[in-house]
Amino acid sequence: MKIWHFSEKQNEFLIHTPFTPRPWINYLTNGDYFALTSQTGGGFSFFLDPLHHALTRREQDLLLNDRPGRFVFIQDLEKPEIGHWNIGGTPSLKKLDRFTCAHGFGYTRIESSCCGIDSSQGMFVCPDENAEVWILSFTNSSDRLRKLRIVAYLEWMLGNSIVDPVARRFDSFFKHVFVDRAVVIGRKLKWGLRGSRENKPWQFEGFVAATHPAEQIWLDKQEFIGLYRDLARPLALEDPSRHPEHPCEVWAVDALGAQEWTVELEPGQNREWQVVVGIAPVGEGVDRARSLADTQRLEASEKEATSSWKRRVRRFWVHTPDFEFTRLHQGWSSYQILIKSYLSSAPSYYHASDGSPGFRDGLQDAFGLTMLEPQRAREMILRLVSFQFRDGAASHRAPRVPLTVEPSEKSDMPLWISLAVLQYVRETGDTSLITEKAPFADGEEASLLDHIRLGLERSLHDTGRHGLPLIRYGDWNDALDGLGGEGQGESVFLGQFLAYSLRNAAVLAELAEERSLAERWKKEADSLVQILNTHCWEEDRFVRAFHDDGTVIGCAENREGSVYLNPQVWAVIADLAPRERQEICMDTVERELDTPFGIRCLSPPYSSYDPHVGLISCFPPGVKENGAVFSHAMAFCLVAELMLKRADQAWEIFCKANPVLRSRQYPEYAVEPYVYSQFVAGPETNLHGQGFHHWLTSTCSWMQYAVVNWMLGARADLDGLILDPCIPQHWKSFNFTRLYRGSTLAIEVKNPNGLSHGVKEVLVDGKPIMGNRIPPPSNKEVQIKVILG
Ligand code: GLC
Repeated sequence: MKIWHFSEKQNEFLIHTPFTPRPWINYLTNGDYFALTSQTGGGFSFFLDPLHHALTRREQDLLLNDRPGRFVFIQDLEKPEIGHWNIGGTPSLKKLDRFTCAHGFGYTRIESSCCGIDSSQGMFVCPDENAEVWILSFTNSSDRLRKLRIVAYLEWMLGNSIVDPVARRFDSFFKHVFVDRAVVIGRKLKWGLRGSRENKPWQFEGFVAATHPAEQIWLDKQEFIGLYRDLARPLALEDPSRHPEHPCEVWAVDALGAQEWTVELEPGQNREWQVVVGIAPVGEGVDRARSLADTQRLEASEKEATSSWKRRVRRFWVHTPDFEFTRLHQGWSSYQILIKSYLSSAPSYYHASDGSPGFRDGLQDAFGLTMLEPQRAREMILRLVSFQFRDGAASHRAPRVPLTVEPSEKSDMPLWISLAVLQYVRETGDTSLITEKAPFADGEEASLLDHIRLGLERSLHDTGRHGLPLIRYGDWNDALDGLGGEGQGESVFLGQFLAYSLRNAAVLAELAEERSLAERWKKEADSLVQILNTHCWEEDRFVRAFHDDGTVIGCAENREGSVYLNPQVWAVIADLAPRERQEICMDTVERELDTPFGIRCLSPPYSSYDPHVGLISCFPPGVKENGAVFSHAMAFCLVAELMLKRADQAWEIFCKANPVLRSRQYPEYAVEPYVYSQFVAGPETNLHGQGFHHWLTSTCSWMQYAVVNWMLGARADLDGLILDPCIPQHWKSFNFTRLYRGSTLAIEVKNPNGLSHGVKEVLVDGKPIMGNRIPPPSNKEVQIKVILG
């Protein structure tokens, strides 16, 4: 049986079993409040920062058993012997007669039938309130009167989430949960910023309420589940006559906010109500919950949430002859970028709340967001650079709570700023960002161009024997931390990226009329290009790095890690070598790194720990940075192939990376078919072919950048949009919409002769233009026709 498909109209992702190969999740959010939910209702919620403002519990075993979550239990009070079930099919063991989960843009809806009851649980996050809503609906499809007991279950985490997994009993001492005017309030008496000595009560409280007030409330997990049991067989459901001993207030227990109702349904009758779960400053939860728990208000909120997400993801929308390509790019690729832009790399079912948004990742998220939501990209860039220090270094993380930050020990951080800023200017034409002021993490403020300058100068001064930037404890590759601890090791990739950043920054300096700065940066870039081509090129590849001791990493002579992907593809992206060399690099990639699952990030992987390279060799061979098919780097690779107009290779890479196709072809892939994952494990271990770390990977930004700008070929540039597709030859026509400078462009491409690139004619609103570059449009909607030939 096919366990998933996309719906025709809304491109919802429909799942037909609760038991997918891994929990397949959705992120529901308004940008501040986050609710992760799987197809079963498993998942957790938090506000702003998952480490400090957790609302419901995230378990370490979530990936395995998808618990806990927002579980709705159902029991037939007249026939308790038939057992209870959950709308989402688990944790109760009872098999459902029918099950569908629809993950949509900004909502998830689970529908199921069991024992003559059709039920559904819709979920969304309010756009204007820090709360989530569960819409519960029950229909009696049997021919007898039914008396049902319904329990909507959640487990409180409340505040800091770092202690719960290691000392749950201790953490529970600080919980205080009570019911006030039909609202459950969850408070935490101890809270602190990570690393701080100060202990004080959490300044927020969680709330739970319903539009149809509950008849009974369970606040203590032990009372509900019972001893020596689990969520699949809670004592409370095996014995319907049980009542909570403390239904109004509990202290110091592992706390719940589980509401219970009794419902009578005539045959054919339906009952529907909503549950609201949210967060508010201490003392405000009851009023907030009571004003929210209003059916009309929540219906309006649902409409607003779904329509605004629909509007947002439709800013880029495609129709092509390729089914899997189209499915991914009708909303899902944009949706992943939008979700990722709020969270960077955690939390997910893979990563707990180990931190706040990353500086490097965040800037790539902003880079990816520039087409879809330029204003928010701008705000992101300005927020992120405030985590840079006056000496040019930058923090690894950019927390949303007032944590003290330190300069990162990775050497690449500040170089990502110009990438995001230049792309923003290309997409918007708004050069004011370049001179906009932003604070430093250690006081004072400066223009963005100065922030960029300080980062560049820092790298230019921090160089080694060959004049390349020092790698210290890693560059883009976090796991290459064993090369440069003594302050001598150099990174070739970083040399390339520095040259690229210098050129990007020179463009920005010119726009800011800082000509001499621009000239200086171009010269610095040229001398790096010289160094790279003289000292870092070896026959058919760019090497990866020089160790502190001067030995070369990523050269043919190395038994392991003899070819790395990044230095090959960045030679192309940054145009750092003669064309012929660039082609050789990509041929090497194809020959040495290609696999049925995609392009590996290095080969051969390190077979055991090698102190010469560090953490990377702690991963088993083929896992993560140690030679997996690392999607983020593979997206760089796609950009490079497209830049070289190697359309066949590019198409093959895209298809291998496309999660829709991966899921169809390789059941072992296991993670979500509708969003990119971080990596696929290589053939060396038992994990071969498995996808890992869903959703929060910068792959989405780079893939969409590659697809829009270089494959479909509507490339934002400073003085206009370049039309230059590079597509599979079998596409005879396709069309798509994209935003550019506030206008919606509807672009139709005809390819009558089955070419892969080359533009013969461009018509703008029916009128032919010279060449393939259109000036920034003045109309809100523009029709563009491109004919290849
Ligand atoms: C992860 C990190 C990213 C890093 C990459 C390679 O994706 O989030 O910052 O560049 O791994 O190490």
